[in-house]
Amino acid sequence: MEKVVIKESNYNVKKGKILRTKRLTGHEKLFEVALEGGGSLDHDPGQFVMVSVFGVGEVPISVSSSPATRGSFELCVRAVGKVTEAMHQLEAGDEIGIRGPYGKGFPIRILEGNDLLIVAGGLGIAPLRSLIKHVLFNRREFGKVHILLGCKTPQDMLFSNELEQWNRRMDVHYECTVDRAAPDWAGNVGVITTLIPGVDIEPERTFAVVVGPPIMYKFVIKELLAKNIPERQILLSFERHMKCGMGKCGRCQIQGLYVCQDGPVFNFADIKNMSEAL
Ligand SMILES: Cc1cc2nc3c(=O)[nH]c(=O)nc-3n(C[C@H](O)[C@H](O)[C@H](O)COP(=O)(O)OP(=O)(O)OC[C@H]3O[C@@H](n4cnc5c(N)ncnc54)[C@H](O)[C@@H]3O)c2cc1C
Ligand code: FES
Repeated sequence: MEKVVIKESNYNVKKGKILRTKRLTGHEKLFEVALEGGGSLDHDPGQFVMVSVFGVGEVPISVSSSPATRGSFELCVRAVGKVTEAMHQLEAGDEIGIRGPYGKGFPIRILEGNDLLIVAGGLGIAPLRSLIKHVLFNRREFGKVHILLGCKTPQDMLFSNELEQWNRRMDVHYECTVDRAAPDWAGNVGVITTLIPGVDIEPERTFAVVVGPPIMYKFVIKELLAKNIPERQILLSFERHMKCGMGKCGRCQIQGLYVCQDGPVFNFADIKNMSEAL
């Protein structure tokens, strides 16, 4: 597996100034951040940064904005514990530390020219939004684009304005579903796997890109294989506890692979025999 070369400058913690925050749901908040001294993050969709809340700790967070955005970038953060809850207390004008970007993102050059079946579960839309923005910005470079989104309830839906825009586009097939909803919900109800059988794809030219909670992967992969998508064309992004984020501490290791450096994006063929991976 090809190793990621980390640029010398990526070891350093840079100061990031929060330009804007937006509450997306009861649990998630979006942060627009600019690096001190200007300059862009230059990330690939699917890569992450190590974010430090000074005096509290450091966590890996995916970059959620388009790689084409210059001068700032966005992070969508769910408050689950010490650092992410402290981050939710921050507002425009506050500072955080940023290292990275790190890891192997989605292989854009390989995806170009092919059809995409993007499957997002819950917070999985955070890194996938960066990919989707890139694909829509460079729409002619890609074949058919299917976006399937699943979340617990309509209230948990992230980036709802953008989802509506994707839904209106003629060059994107977009569908969403929720696990449960009030009777006035007019959309699909059911887990995300229920959407996959109905998608019309040509498996040999389709790459499936899947990001969501760990429980989702096993069931989604089963449906994708049933549609004859080759194992190598099924891409998954993993979350593991991380400390250094750059292949030094071994904290994120799964059976010899470093999720922070060999991933977080892997293809199913490479990890399918790893009992700890799925
Ligand atoms: C590559 C990568 C990209 C990520 N991208 C995002 C993102 O875009 N937005 C976002 O909100 N979160 C993202 N996460 C998850 C985020 O890093 C964790 O939620 C965060 O580290 C929790 O830290 P804490 O101090 O707030 O919580 P803690 O107090 O440390 O833990 C709270 C709970 O979260 C669990 N947890 C902690 N770290 C992780 C982890 N790395 N993976 C899974 N569970 C964890 C703990 O086991 C515990 O149950 C990403 C993780 C990785 C590895
Ligand atoms: S987080 Fe340290 S090696 Fe991956």
